[in-house]
Amino acid sequence: MNTSRRKVVLITGASSGIGQACAEVLGARGHAVHGTSRHPRADGAHHRMGVLDVTDDDSVRRAVASVLAAEGRLDVVVNSAGFVLSGAVEDVSIDEARRQLDTNFLGVLRVCQAVLPTMRAQRSGLIVNISSMGGAAGLPFQGLYSASKFALEGLTESLRLEVASFGIEATLLQPGDVRTRVRDYRVRAQRSGPGSAYRETFERVMAMVESGEGAGVAPEQVAQKVLSLVERQRVDVRYSVGHLSQRAALVSKRLLPARTFEHIVMALHGLSRR
Ligand SMILES: NC(=O)c1ccc[n+]([C@@H]2O[C@H](COP(=O)([O-])OP(=O)(O)OC[C@H]3O[C@@H](n4cnc5c(N)ncnc54)[C@H](OP(=O)(O)O)[C@@H]3O)[C@@H](O)[C@H]2O)c1
Repeated sequence: MNTSRRKVVLITGASSGIGQACAEVLGARGHAVHGTSRHPRADGAHHRMGVLDVTDDDSVRRAVASVLAAEGRLDVVVNSAGFVLSGAVEDVSIDEARRQLDTNFLGVLRVCQAVLPTMRAQRSGLIVNISSMGGAAGLPFQGLYSASKFALEGLTESLRLEVASFGIEATLLQPGDVRTRVRDYRVRAQRSGPGSAYRETFERVMAMVESGEGAGVAPEQVAQKVLSLVERQRVDVRYSVGHLSQRAALVSKRLLPARTFEHIVMALHGLSRR
C-alpha cells in the first residue's frame, strides 16, 4: 500500500469478534494496526496486539502512548470493546449498571479523550464507534445495554460537531446480529434468577436473542464496512450493517409512528400487553 494511504489504527476489543475481524481485515489491507484488549492473544499475521482495558484510565493512556512511540502518529481509532448486560430494568443492580456504562460508554470516552490531543495536533483523524441497533431502539431485557449505546450515539453526535474544525471525523456503526463471542461474554443481572417477576419471559426472550446472534452475519462483514469507512474521504453520522431485515427495521423506526414501531418490536420478541 502507498505509504500516504497507510493509516495507523488503534482498535479496542480486538481479541474477539468485530474488533478482531477489523484488526485482521485492516491489517491485511496494509494498514498499521494495533489491536488491544484486556487479555491480548499473540500478534496476528498483519497486526500487533497490546493491553488496553477501557475501564482503566492509566491502561488507556499507556496503550495510546505505546502506539505513538511505535508509529509517531495515530490516524484511526475503532472503539469495539463492549459487552451486553441482560436483565429486566427492575432487576439490574446499580453496580451492574455502572459496570455496563463504564465499559460501553465511559470506555469510549476515555479512549477518545486520550487520542484527541494527537489528532488535533495532526489536524486529522477518524474515530469509529461501534454502536448497535440497540443504540437506535430500546431492546427488551437489554435496557442498560441499550442505554449505554444510546449514550454513545449522543456522545458521538456531539463530538463530531466539536472536532470538525480540527479536521477530525467521528462516526457510528450500528451492527445488527453478528456471530461473535458476545454470548460467552454476556452478563446476566444477578436478580434475573429465581424470584424475579420477569424470569420466564426473560429466559424466553434471551433464548430468541441468542439464537438471533448465532444466525447473525460474520464479523468480517462488519470489518469490511469499517475498512470502507477508514478509506473514505468523509464519513456520515452513522451507518448500519447486518441482515437486510434488521437494517430495514431501523428505517421503519424513522418512518412509523412510535407506538406502531413498539408494537412490532414486542411482536418480534413474543411480548404482549396485559
Ligand atoms: N455481536 C453482536 O451481535 C453485536 C451487535 C451489535 C453491536 N455489537 C457491538 O460490537 C462490539 C464488539 O462486540 P463483539 O460481539 O465483537 O464482542 P465479543 O466477541 O464478545 O468481544 C468483546 C471484546 O471486547 C473486549 N473487552 C471487553 N471488556 C473490555 C474492557 N474492559 N477493556 C477492553 N476490552 C474489553 C474483549 O476482550 P478481552 O476480554 O480480551 O478484554 C473482546 O475483545 C461491542 O461494542 C458490541 O456491543 C455487537
